Amino acid sequence: MKIHLSAAVTADGALDDRSPERLRISDAADWAAVEALRARCDAILVGAGTVRHDNPRLCLPEEVRQQRLREGRTPDLLRVTVTRTGNLDPAARIFTWGTGARLVFAEGPLPQLDGRAEVIVARPVTAAGIVTELEKRGVGTLLVEGGAEVLRMFLQEKAADTLRLAMHPSLHVDDAAAPHFPFDALPAGVPCIEEQVGVMRVRHYELRADHRAEDLPLLRRAVELSRRCIPCATSYRVGAVIQTCDGALFEGYTHETSPTHHAEQEAIAKAVAAGADLRGATIYSSMEPCSKRSSEPESCSALIRRLGFARVVFALYEPDCFVSCRGALDLREAGIEVAVYPELGPEVRAINGHLKG
Ligand SMILES: NC(=O)c1ccc[n+]([C@@H]2O[C@H](COP(=O)([O-])OP(=O)(O)OC[C@H]3O[C@@H](n4cnc5c(N)ncnc54)[C@H](OP(=O)(O)O)[C@@H]3O)[C@@H](O)[C@H]2O)c1
Repeated sequence: MKIHLSAAVTADGALDDRSPERLRISDAADWAAVEALRARCDAILVGAGTVRHDNPRLCLPEEVRQQRLREGRTPDLLRVTVTRTGNLDPAARIFTWGTGARLVFAEGPLPQLDGRAEVIVARPVTAAGIVTELEKRGVGTLLVEGGAEVLRMFLQEKAADTLRLAMHPSLHVDDAAAPHFPFDALPAGVPCIEEQVGVMRVRHYELRADHRAEDLPLLRRAVELSRRCIPCATSYRVGAVIQTCDGALFEGYTHETSPTHHAEQEAIAKAVAAGADLRGATIYSSMEPCSKRSSEPESCSALIRRLGFARVVFALYEPDCFVSCRGALDLREAGIEVAVYPELGPEVRAINGHLKG
């Protein structure tokens, strides 16, 4: 899933002042560019602080909705918010304007939102958890529009691909207690390009490199390897490929050398036998690495964490056939980058057609 952060700030980095009304920072040209970015996304997220203070609708203009319908997409964005306290008014515009689903990530049930939003309970709510849940629901692009606390969470967890930061050249708030963009959470030296949009100076930061061109051939190879596993009623057929930092490749597939081995274990065993350094390596697996094993002492996601892999790439989240898998979530919460290419998912499903789920 691609995750874009977007914010507009004053010349002194404020996202708003402390007046009851939202401070207008963007001009019309910048606002049009933000609307165009929204139109390209599947879901939009703001924190409960923004819902309470700004009461945004987060709806798309009617002509954009119609265009999205013609493209076979949902007309509206999936609207998402997060809360700890549960202090969300069911009459807020995010829940009452426009159509389409609403999702709230909360630390406990919110009965006041029954019929208005689906509530996902997680303790704690993390960017890793939000991203994993949305990805499982088929969201391909998420736009995070703030406010300060939510932007900080995504930056600190390194859970974003890009940041669009529009800066007003002369507007100042001069109030340290006003919400400010969390510049301290922005990694130093991130590449960025600047453009002028109306009166605003807009910086486009690339927070995470796009690995698609290198990932897809190796993930396809992992899918091909999975076909070598003989179908059985107790296992998925999975293939795995490891690429170390110096470019060495190791491959494996389910049950290749042992009836209890998963594909990731098989590839890792070969790499370890060859003396390869797996710190910083990438592992490609046709399916989400497991998070629970009964026949082995350590799950594949625990093994991947212990050996210091930097990235995990897979095609299909593990279906809830044997256990409810939280491999991707565990990996993300451990700071490992997880990239999913759902376009290869149907092929992996077909290869595992011997199992229901
Ligand atoms: N200029 C811009 O581009 C822009 C864009 C958006 C917003 N804003 C401004 O930003 C201000 C609001 O910013 P803010 O930092 O106060 O609020 P925020 O980031 O919108 O929301 C913070 C709230 O989100 C919930 N939250 C955040 N992290 C969470 C987590 N890990 N788990 C569970 N809940 C979590 C908490 O809600 P609870 O308190 O309910 O527990 C928290 O108080 C407003 O003034 C708004 O106008 C500006």
